[in-house]
Amino acid sequence: MNVTVLQHPLAAHFLTHLRDRTTKPALFRLLCKRLTVLLAVEASAHLALRPRIIETPLEPFEGRVLDEPLVAVPVLRAGLGMLDPLVEFFPDVSVGYIGLERDEATAVASSYYAKLPRMSGRTTLVLDPMLATGGSADQAIATVKAAGAGQVLMLSIVAAPEGVTRVNAAHPDVPIFTAGLDRGLNDRKYILPGLGDFGDRLYGTEST
Ligand code: PRP
Ligand code: URA
Repeated sequence: MNVTVLQHPLAAHFLTHLRDRTTKPALFRLLCKRLTVLLAVEASAHLALRPRIIETPLEPFEGRVLDEPLVAVPVLRAGLGMLDPLVEFFPDVSVGYIGLERDEATAVASSYYAKLPRMSGRTTLVLDPMLATGGSADQAIATVKAAGAGQVLMLSIVAAPEGVTRVNAAHPDVPIFTAGLDRGLNDRKYILPGLGDFGDRLYGTEST
């Protein structure tokens, strides 16, 4: 399996609180943002830099800056929780949206929305907090590639081995970053131990 799992102790700390069933939506959103910052730092190590000459107050300096603009594509709806920290990190980022929803009975994701900026050759970060069967991530990555994306990176908060294996097989060129690699899926294709339905917990729409 080709996946980078965050090793920083803060990732374990934030993720444990995120998983906790007593964590309410306001804290859940905050923890999601903090984990996304850690994921962005980790994933940034894979981004290309280009030289840039600037003037310090004392003399010219040849430094290096990110080869921007980048594109960020949250998968609606849960991926929206990861967008704010990305935009703060990369202020010039272009943002596209892909709407996918899993059928509750089959766990197969279907598309209901897509709006992408100019992608041609641009490095693209696909944001989806849960990588369960991998069906949503597979579709989202295929969509950005079809639109002309350059290097694609996948950022998730919790991943199941099944999802990683599927995305690795369909998109071996796409590195996956996650805060937690879990045990597997239950019979409803929810991640175990997981954290439940991310979108519901993010937006306070749980029915129980
Ligand atoms: C969740 C999650 C992922 C998907 C992961 O979305 O946000 O997009 O499931 O599952 P998969 O790897 O098996 O495809 P959901 O379809 O529940 O929609 P939501 O974000 O609108 O709640
Ligand atoms: N989507 C979620 O929100 N949680 C899971 O465990 C699986 C898919």
